[in-house]
Amino acid sequence: MLFFENSTRTRVSFEQACNYLGYRVVNFAGSGSSMNKGESLKDTILTLKHELLEAVVMRHKASGSAQLGQGYFGGPLINAGDGQHEHPTQALGDALTVLERKGRLDGLKIAIVGDVMHSRVARSNSWMFSKMGSEVRFVGPRTLMPSSMAMLPGEVFYDLRTGISGADVVMCLRLQKERMTDGRLSSMGEYRRLYQVNRQTLKWAADDAIVMHPGPMNRGVELDDLTADGPDSVILDQVSNGVFVRMAALKWLFDGEETNS
Ligand code: NCD
Repeated sequence: MLFFENSTRTRVSFEQACNYLGYRVVNFAGSGSSMNKGESLKDTILTLKHELLEAVVMRHKASGSAQLGQGYFGGPLINAGDGQHEHPTQALGDALTVLERKGRLDGLKIAIVGDVMHSRVARSNSWMFSKMGSEVRFVGPRTLMPSSMAMLPGEVFYDLRTGISGADVVMCLRLQKERMTDGRLSSMGEYRRLYQVNRQTLKWAADDAIVMHPGPMNRGVELDDLTADGPDSVILDQVSNGVFVRMAALKWLFDGEETNS
C-alpha cells in the first residue's frame, strides 16, 4: 500500500479487501520513509520490488505516476489515484452503486457537479459511464473546468439548473482546495449559492435521482446535510462497494485467465 497522498476510504478499503481475500499487506507512508531523505519514486519502487512484494497499490500526486511506477515495478500495480488523472477503482465502485439502485447504466443521465478540473474521479467516472452507454454531463464554474474539456466524453454546463435537469444521478465532487493554488474560486459562499446540491436544487433532477459523492465531503458546501444524509444519498454505499470492487480487482490480478471475463 504505497500512499504518497492522504487517503481514508481508498487505503482502508484496499486493506479491507486484502483482509477478506487472505492477502498480507505491507503499509508504506510517504512521510515516514526515505522519500523524506530525497529518495526518488523509481528507487522506492525498485526497493519494494526487491523486497519481493507481489503487487503494489499506489496513490501519488503526479498524473501519470501509476504508469511510470508500473514500468519500474514490472508486476501488478493498481492505480489508487494519480494526481488529476484517473481513479479507476473509484469509478468501478460508483458503477456498482448506480447499478444496484437503477438496475442499468445505459441510457442514464449522469451529472458530475463541481471541481472537474482537479478531479481524477470525474475523469475515470466519465470514461466508465460513457463506455457503459450513459449520458455524461459536467456541471460547474467555468474556472473549474479543464482547458482540455473537449477531450472528455460529455457535455459541459455552467448552470446547475440546466446541468442537472432530469438527471438520474447527481454526482458531487469535492472542491480540491489543496490543488487550487491560483484563486480559481472567488468565494466558497458564491460556489455554495450557485452550485450546492440541496433539497431545493435537487428538485431539478429526476424524481428518483440519487446523490453521490466520492468523499471526503465539505459538508455544507458541495451538499447540504439533509441531502448528504437523506434517502436519495448513496454515499455510504459507494464506500462499501469500494471494498467489493477492490476485492474483485485484486482477485482478477492474481487468479489468472479464467476469472478475467
Ligand atoms: C477522491 C480522491 O482522492 O480522488 N477520494 C476518494 O478516493 N474517495 C476524491 C477527493 O479527494 O476529492
